[in-house]
Amino acid sequence: MTQWIDVINADALAPGEHHTLEIEHLAIVVFNVDGAFYAVEDLCSHDEQPLADGRLSGTTIACPAHGALFCLRTGKPLSPPAYEPIRHFATRIKDGMVQINLQAH
Ligand code: FES
Repeated sequence: MTQWIDVINADALAPGEHHTLEIEHLAIVVFNVDGAFYAVEDLCSHDEQPLADGRLSGTTIACPAHGALFCLRTGKPLSPPAYEPIRHFATRIKDGMVQINLQAH
């Protein structure tokens, strides 16, 4: 059974902003990109630094440590020095809340 977890009221996360949280020992960051919500593990696959404060460009996040780029939709690395994907999670809005699902992409 898929389990959806409340993260934050959708109105509380404006476009361009992010929200970090920890669920089941996973550091997670949720971004609002022009009204769409994307959730990824807040852990760069290059050197395990947090991604939350990286520069957003559309659905691409730049790791603040060494500049690797990742696609928030797929978790795929888009530039060195990262070559492995990051974990990404399904999101939805339910009753005004952003929810994520750790079992789904
Ligand atoms: S830790 Fe992210 S690019 Fe190095």
